[in-house]
Amino acid sequence: MGYNTYFVDALNRLHEERRYRVFAHLERLAGRFPRAIHHTPDGPRDVIVWCSNDYLGMGQHPKVVGAMVETATRMGTGAGGTRNIAGNNHPLVLLEQELADLHGKEAGLVFTSGYVSNDAGISTIAKLLPNCLILSDALNHNSMITGVRNAGTDKVVWRHNDVEHLEDLLKKAGKERAKLIVFEGLYSMDGDVSPIGKICDLAEKYNAMTYIDEVHAVGMYGARGGGQAEQQGEMGRIDVIEATLAKAFGCLGGYIAGSHALVDAVRSYAPGFIFTTALPPAVCAAATAAIRHLKDSTWERERHQERAAKVKAVLSAAGLPVMPTDTHIVPVMVCDADKCKQATDILLEEHGIYIQPINYPTVPKGTERLRITPSPYHEDALVHALAEALVDVWERLELPRKPFNAIAAE
Ligand SMILES: Cc1ncc(COP(=O)(O)O)c(C=O)c1O
Repeated sequence: MGYNTYFVDALNRLHEERRYRVFAHLERLAGRFPRAIHHTPDGPRDVIVWCSNDYLGMGQHPKVVGAMVETATRMGTGAGGTRNIAGNNHPLVLLEQELADLHGKEAGLVFTSGYVSNDAGISTIAKLLPNCLILSDALNHNSMITGVRNAGTDKVVWRHNDVEHLEDLLKKAGKERAKLIVFEGLYSMDGDVSPIGKICDLAEKYNAMTYIDEVHAVGMYGARGGGQAEQQGEMGRIDVIEATLAKAFGCLGGYIAGSHALVDAVRSYAPGFIFTTALPPAVCAAATAAIRHLKDSTWERERHQERAAKVKAVLSAAGLPVMPTDTHIVPVMVCDADKCKQATDILLEEHGIYIQPINYPTVPKGTERLRITPSPYHEDALVHALAEALVDVWERLELPRKPFNAIAAE
């Protein structure tokens, strides 16, 4: 049987639908972020990265790199086992204490990624609640959807950020039934934030638990980097806070924070936590260094917001369709899958600017875009070079130079 043809056919389908993904072969340069080397068939080329989720450049911070190097030198590389079998290393225990403190919760629990923490966290919590109904925001990330599916419980999807719809669904479920509301603090594609206080009001009114994904907000919002829940003054009202160590904290791993009992139950029941090797000590020490630094230092957060505002202003002034956001995400709308890919190819090959095209299924068809993520280290010269390159691309691809509102109204 020619098994390989099935894989070739599957790939051809992706090509036909313009959904085949190409990875840029990059080499990051510590100390020079957002500059990197792009390895091409014609040799290495310099490139400016404009789409990294190392939002604050903490992946190159001397304290973070130093903690990783020092810990690896002292303790070696891998953890050597699952948490249960020899892998429960000291920096990991300290990291969980740091995370609990960051979110003002009794306990924290670290997983190998944010994806795994959502899958394991949501599915395990819902399974432990009798006859649980999960209420999930329509724009929740794939990892949350996977957690909801793997829970195997009933679920309903509420229209994105629509608290009236959420209330209808809560009312229908009734006060007596166990309910888990899952949502994000900041949605990474449109850069909008959730009305956390209103969701908590409803959770209290209808006796539901709350689970928030703060993957795109921790480190960047709140006085100590506790995320949107801290920024909006609602952190104490949320039952479970989930986030990543891989974006603003510049490392790898994910976590949940909550009550002792909840965290202990997930630790004890979640296969995605139990049956996998613990994070390496050096990664944990580096993440702890990043979290500690961002608890005290506001420079990165302030400069990050200032840079995002600058990019939005410069690109809008150049007549580019920048979707308005209140956050650090700068979506520039292309609204065409082919042109979106072509635009990023021209940017990379001719302007030395790397931005990954965002196409379906990450965003709905017709809303394809460039998702630009300015960091504290994207100085003015880089912002102006980006604007000039985008104007060139817009002209060559005959894309409309109109404000976002005019495009949205069409
Ligand atoms: C909202 C959200 N949650 C979770 C994740 C997964 O986090 P990680 O990259 O740490 O696996 C992502 C993507 O990276 C995300 O965008």
